[in-house]
Amino acid sequence: MPRARQEKQAVDLPRAGIIGAGTLGTVLASVLVRCGYPLAAVAGRSRASTERLARAVQPHPQVCATPQQAADLASLIFITTPDDAIESVAASVRWSSRHAVVHCSGALDASVLDAVRRAGGQAGGFHPMQTFAAGQPGLDAPLAGVTIGIEAEGQLRDTLAQLAQAMGCPWVALRPQDKALYHLSATLVSNYVVTLADAATSLWERLGLSREQARAALLPLLEGTVRGIAAAGTPAALTGPIARGDAGTIQRHLAALRRHAPELLPVYRALGERTVPLALANRSLDSDAAAAIQRLLQATPADAPQHVEAIA
Ligand SMILES: NC(=O)c1ccc[n+]([C@@H]2O[C@H](COP(=O)([O-])OP(=O)(O)OC[C@H]3O[C@@H](n4cnc5c(N)ncnc54)[C@H](OP(=O)(O)O)[C@@H]3O)[C@@H](O)[C@H]2O)c1
Repeated sequence: MPRARQEKQAVDLPRAGIIGAGTLGTVLASVLVRCGYPLAAVAGRSRASTERLARAVQPHPQVCATPQQAADLASLIFITTPDDAIESVAASVRWSSRHAVVHCSGALDASVLDAVRRAGGQAGGFHPMQTFAAGQPGLDAPLAGVTIGIEAEGQLRDTLAQLAQAMGCPWVALRPQDKALYHLSATLVSNYVVTLADAATSLWERLGLSREQARAALLPLLEGTVRGIAAAGTPAALTGPIARGDAGTIQRHLAALRRHAPELLPVYRALGERTVPLALANRSLDSDAAAAIQRLLQATPADAPQHVEAIA
């Protein structure tokens, strides 16, 4: 950005501060600076992480020894500590009416920042619907295109919407009572996909193959699935035995799980039962085949045929 435009923007934009110099704090610091926001201050728990964040952006923000010092130097404060620390960090600072304070938790509502509101300041939430693994901050435009969940009212909502727009991010307005539901959608599509990938990988070990081989085989499949969802959405992206009505294959899966990985039976059954309506919606399965598959998925071990060949 040309220097003159940068300076004009910096005059108009609030001085930002970050409390919590971890993974998201570092990403946010980088994006704020890239968007022309003056990043005045950063405060963390350990000196090492606070200095690491300050060094990662240009111009370097002031390294503060306490959250209070960061609050004294900035008017728009992002609290990027772990969720459980947000309320106590907010309660430890003397705020005033010039402060707008935002946390980045998807699950918590802004009431954890009531200390700010009691002092006359504004409080809100600014949650990027993206996963950032520790140690891989990915500072190169890591937020562009990521939807931001904003919980805020009035002037703060305008400020945060303007920031989202500057970051190249669509945003949605969230009500406090909807935060948990909103956040668990992220857990389903991100965290639990990791859990499923781990479960799938563990089956390869039972075949005598390595986790590296499993990853090499399963990753292109996972990527193809994501591409299918991106191209066609759900339920259209659904393929596999339930979509095709292959009851015999499902029976084979259940028998293999009973024998080799019984701990995965509940999750296989639950996901299968949730998949049948998708195949019905795609019209790739008729109602008789759907009912037969549901019966298979719900059968207890005592109901199940002892030999796969019996139903294949
Ligand atoms: N990572 C993600 O994918 C992601 C995505 C969306 C939203 N979020 C949200 O972003 C927030 C931060 O998550 P994160 O993944 O960035 O966590 P993180 O990597 O663990 O970083 C948290 C940072 O907060 C610091 N901290 C802990 N207690 C503190 C305190 N009392 N005062 C000041 N600093 C303190 C830690 O200091 P030390 O360095 O000394 O340990 C650490 O640097 C959470 O609310 C989370 O829900 C995260």
